Amino acid sequence: MSRRTRVAGRNAVVTGASSGIGAAVAERLAAMGCPLVLVGRDRDRLAAVRARTGGRAVVADLGTARGVESVAEAAVDWVELLIHVAGIGWAGPLADTPATTVDELMAVNLGAPVQLTRALLPTLRAADGHVVFVASIAAIGVANEAVYAATKAGLRGFADAVRLESGVGVTTVLPGVVATEYFRRRGTAYHRRFPRMVPPQRVAAGLVGAVEGGKAEVFVPRWLTLGARVHGAAPATFARLSRRFDPPAR
Ligand SMILES: NC(=O)c1ccc[n+]([C@@H]2O[C@H](COP(=O)([O-])OP(=O)(O)OC[C@H]3O[C@@H](n4cnc5c(N)ncnc54)[C@H](OP(=O)(O)O)[C@@H]3O)[C@@H](O)[C@H]2O)c1
Repeated sequence: MSRRTRVAGRNAVVTGASSGIGAAVAERLAAMGCPLVLVGRDRDRLAAVRARTGGRAVVADLGTARGVESVAEAAVDWVELLIHVAGIGWAGPLADTPATTVDELMAVNLGAPVQLTRALLPTLRAADGHVVFVASIAAIGVANEAVYAATKAGLRGFADAVRLESGVGVTTVLPGVVATEYFRRRGTAYHRRFPRMVPPQRVAAGLVGAVEGGKAEVFVPRWLTLGARVHGAAPATFARLSRRFDPPAR
C-alpha cells in the first residue's frame, strides 16, 4: 500500500505531457481542476496540450542536467503531485544497441525521475504530496529490450525505496502496450500478438485511481498483474513461457 492522496485541485507536474500517456494524464487532471506544469521538448505539441488543459508549459530536455534543473526550478515550493511519464524506448539485441542510445535511455527514463524526485522531495513532503512513476511491464524483463527493461526495473526499485523512506505517497504504474507514438519514435513497430494495445486514457484513469486508492503499484490492463506474480513466485516458469512466446534472436 501507498498513502491515499486526494487528486482534485492539487498542483501537478506532468513530464512527457506533450504526447501519449502524459497528454492523457494532463487532460484528466485538468478535468479534476488541477493547476498544471506541463513538461516536454516539443514546444508546439506542448502548446496544443496546454490549449486544452491550461497551466504552464516548461520546455526542457530531461536527458540533460540543465533540463532537469529547469523543471525543478519551475516546481519547487509549488508541486503537490509529481508525475513522471516522459520516456523513450529502443528495441533490438543488446550487442546492437548503440552506446549513445544506452546513455540516453538511462538519462531520460531513470536519471531524470531520480534527480527530479530528489530535488522536489522536501516540497512534496511539506504538501503531503504524491509521486507517480510510469514504468512498464518490461520491468519484469522483455527480450530485445534489455536496456529499456533495466531503466523501468530501476524506476520500480527506486519507487519502492522512496515509498519506504520518504513519507510521501508513491505509486508505480506498469502499462502493457499503449496506443501512442512510442513505437514509431523508437523506430520498431509493435510485433507481438499480446498484450493488446490499450488507449492512453485507460492508463491515465488507472493512474489517478491508484493515487486516490493508495495503491503502491497498478498494472494496466489489470490482468498483467498475473505475469508479474508468476515472475515473482516462479521465475523459471516465467522465463520458460517468455522464451516460448518470444524466442531469443539468433
Ligand atoms: N506506449 C507504450 O506501449 C508504453 C508501454 C509501457 C510504458 N510506456 C511508458 O510510458 C511513457 C510515455 O510513453 P508514451 O507511450 O506516451 O510515448 P510518447 O507518445 O512517445 O510520449 C513520450 C513523451 O516523453 C517525452 N520525452 C521523451 N524524451 C524526452 C526528453 N529527453 N526530455 C523531455 N521529454 C521527453 C516526449 O516529449 P517530447 O516529444 O516533447 O520531447 C513525450 O511527451 C514512457 O515512459 C514509456 O516508457 C509506454
